[in-house]
Amino acid sequence: MEKITAGTLIRDVVERYPATVGAFARHGLPCTGCHLAAAETVAQGAAAHGIAVGPLLEDLNRVAEGGEAGAGPAAPPRPPGKLEREGIRRVVAVMSGKGGVGKSLVTGLCAVSTRRAGMATGILDGDITGPSIPKMFGLDNGAARQGEVPATSRSGIRIASMNLLLEADDQPVIWRGPMVSGALRQFFTDLDWGRLDYLWVDLPPGTSDAPLTALQSLPLDGVVVVGSPQALASMVVRKAINLVREMGVPILGVVENMSYMELPGGGRAEPFGPSRAYDLVLAAGAPLLAQLPLDPGVAAACDAGVIENYRSASAEELEKNLLKVLGEKE
Ligand SMILES: Nc1ncnc2c1ncn2[C@@H]1O[C@H](COP(=O)(O)OP(=O)(O)OP(=O)(O)O)[C@@H](O)[C@H]1O
Ligand SMILES: [Mg+2]
Repeated sequence: MEKITAGTLIRDVVERYPATVGAFARHGLPCTGCHLAAAETVAQGAAAHGIAVGPLLEDLNRVAEGGEAGAGPAAPPRPPGKLEREGIRRVVAVMSGKGGVGKSLVTGLCAVSTRRAGMATGILDGDITGPSIPKMFGLDNGAARQGEVPATSRSGIRIASMNLLLEADDQPVIWRGPMVSGALRQFFTDLDWGRLDYLWVDLPPGTSDAPLTALQSLPLDGVVVVGSPQALASMVVRKAINLVREMGVPILGVVENMSYMELPGGGRAEPFGPSRAYDLVLAAGAPLLAQLPLDPGVAAACDAGVIENYRSASAEELEKNLLKVLGEKE
């Protein structure tokens, strides 16, 4: 094996050793496929992203060797080609870059929207380390023990989640990034989803292996980005947006969650600061689908497993705008 040095072009590294894409990404350099990689050396790429070049090179060489030897257990997964999809018309992921901003809620609401519009809908709960989708739809752990078929919600949404495979829903899942990515791919390819108009993918938070692999390998038609006023202030959402951009996946729309709160006596409060929906739209270059208020009703519906019955003005707004950007409705 020819050693990778600081002067090697990033493009040459990833062409020769495709498994290094994951290593680059783990070090904070997810853009190995962008046009700059063709002209940039490892040292230049590291400098541009403020990354220490020494540990990066060590890791790259280790992965390159492991790749040749047939990928040892510590090696990241081989960068996947796009997975085949049969019978699934569109795959859309929901992403935030930050935990707890309502990504799963928005995934749930998007799925409910396409289902209400009469379309065959599924959800792939990619948030393997903290899945909340099944609970939202009132599915318990026994529901998906059939093995190869996703569970089905009351309104007929097909749902696959790691949580449904666990013994108890409070059982922790401590998996390394590559395993999470592998499971995600497997859920996509090995389950019998049947014919679907929409498969919604609830991506794990962050810009680590799992969302990266999903973006790279799931045949995504687009991404919906979720932010809260607070999350937007902290840059992480913007980082996630940049990642999606670098991967060349279109951002279909943005949702600002927890934007405001209706006060009992009328008027609104902004517990997480003033809305940043405008910033979100500018950063994503995509339309605002909805501003969802902090609503105890939605939290209660999620907890009770009846998200399919939840209705509110802002959820209707989301539904209307979503179907519009998806081209399902005028
Ligand atoms: N607009 C809202 N009003 C009230 N509660 C909300 C709202 N959005 C989300 N929640 C609640 O906040 C919690 C976190 O939301 P959710 O699980 O959708 O976030 P997430 O981004 O998927 O989090 P994680 O990163 O852990 O996956 C949930 O209990 C959810 O019911
Ligand atoms: Mg979640």
